[in-house]
Amino acid sequence: MRNKILGELYKNKENYISGEMLAKNLGISRTAVWKHINILKKEGYIIETTPGKGYRLLETEDKLLPGEIEILLGDNTIGKQVVYFESINSTNSYAKKEIGQLEDGTIVLAEKQTLGRGRRGKGWVSPKGTGIWVSLILKPDIPPREGIKMTQIAAAAVCESIRKLTGLNALIKWPNDIIINGKKVCGILTEMAGELNEISYIIIGIGINVNMDNFPDEIKEKATSLFIESGNKIDRRYLLIDILRNFETLYNDYIENLNLGRVLSIVKNYSAVLGKNIRVIQGKTEKKGKAIDINDEGLLLVELEDGSSESVMSGEVSIRGEEGYI
Ligand code: BTN
Repeated sequence: MRNKILGELYKNKENYISGEMLAKNLGISRTAVWKHINILKKEGYIIETTPGKGYRLLETEDKLLPGEIEILLGDNTIGKQVVYFESINSTNSYAKKEIGQLEDGTIVLAEKQTLGRGRRGKGWVSPKGTGIWVSLILKPDIPPREGIKMTQIAAAAVCESIRKLTGLNALIKWPNDIIINGKKVCGILTEMAGELNEISYIIIGIGINVNMDNFPDEIKEKATSLFIESGNKIDRRYLLIDILRNFETLYNDYIENLNLGRVLSIVKNYSAVLGKNIRVIQGKTEKKGKAIDINDEGLLLVELEDGSSESVMSGEVSIRGEEGYI
């Protein structure tokens, strides 16, 4: 019901709608309307109440409020349900723990993570209100070997949205990172489980440094934010909405014909690694070579130093720059 009230307020954004009208449109009492409005105010919505005129929704706080996200997303399937926390250990850890309760397409969103997780057992700095810390829950009917491609779909969606909304030259460091001017602005942690021929779930954890103005010393050299790069504060809501819409289009396109098509053209067009000398780190082994291509399966083709070539399915890639590898 609260979302329906929010929906009505949105339709009349900045204008008044009377309690009577709300009650009539939604088939509830005026007292019930009043109670819901009070809860919405506590959640962070700025709603003005004027006797004789009614209620009007003003700009909301800089929060990723779930009701607002659901409304702004319209009929997007990804994000049709939003689980929201002011603070949580990690949205991926929560999603894993509660996976049985979370429907396909649900997103888990937090203003802050106290134990944000990165790849290879690293942490992920996730301060309050300055980033997008989100996990997408997917339960697709595809063979497990295809799951790996989800990361690339996410990377393509994030990269395109960042470019569109900020004009920054965001690039994809195959397969999981988005970098701007050689520094990391977004990381993706995909976790999945399943049987031999069936995926039971995929959790795509996306962390985007949006509005922070500094980073802890340990990662200062390697991390950046959209604010630092553009000089502008970015509205996290619109960035998140754009990413989820973009993701849905690319994901549906893929699910329908198991062909990465558009995703590949994005990851190739905006690749930070193609044509570069790189190092591929897989567990304890490390190989040097040149990134040649990304094939139809999303694998990175590398020409190794000894002249042989290899298609790499996963691993960390470092790019050789003027100051060594990033
Ligand atoms: C990496 O580059 O190492 C991956 C970082 C992934 C961070 C995101 S933030 C939302 C989700 N929850 C987590 O604990 N991690 C991912």
